Amino acid sequence: KNIGVLASGRGSNLQSIMDACAAGRIPARVAVVISNNKDAYALERARQAGIAAVAVNTGDYPDKAEYEKYIVDILKEHNVHLVCLAGYMRLVGKTLLEAFPGRVMNIHPALLPAFPGLHGQEQAWRYGVKYSGCTVHFVDEGMDTGPIILQAVVPVHDDDTADTLAARILEQEHRIYPEAINLYCTGKLVVEGRKVRILK
Ligand code: GRF
Repeated sequence: KNIGVLASGRGSNLQSIMDACAAGRIPARVAVVISNNKDAYALERARQAGIAAVAVNTGDYPDKAEYEKYIVDILKEHNVHLVCLAGYMRLVGKTLLEAFPGRVMNIHPALLPAFPGLHGQEQAWRYGVKYSGCTVHFVDEGMDTGPIILQAVVPVHDDDTADTLAARILEQEHRIYPEAINLYCTGKLVVEGRKVRILK
């Protein structure tokens, strides 16, 4: 199966997905990486791995639908079956979701439904929670609201800063995102309304 990754930044989650594919831990390949930010290091990582890397400038399109239509065209050209958001800093709209129904995933750096939106790690740290973590979920039109696939929990220590907590969470992101993609690619995920059942 071909995976398309949308990323806006440094691309460490993209890297963990590419590495898992290369190591045979996911029976799929990353076929294309698309970014709304031409300077995203994620694009460089893709190029270094010999994977198609495409920058799309949102400003070149009259509206979100046209912008997403273009992204959908690129994904279809590369026969993408599953779309993975990895630090993609735009809300996904109808156009993309309708082209890939039930086939768009995201990773969020907090235990949803707590602390959705930007800077989930810092939100959790400021709130004073004792545990936080990360969540892989299917994407719907809301902000970090789709059915939850996997979560990992990490403790918050008294001497943590937002950054040390974020680093602890990131390690778990790199573990559970490839794991969730593998479950999807091996047909182990069954979505029943809000609930995602994982087959043995
Ligand atoms: C990660 O913390 C991810 O959970 C969030 O954005 C960050 C992206 O990091 N959605 P990277 O670009 O994958 O390194």
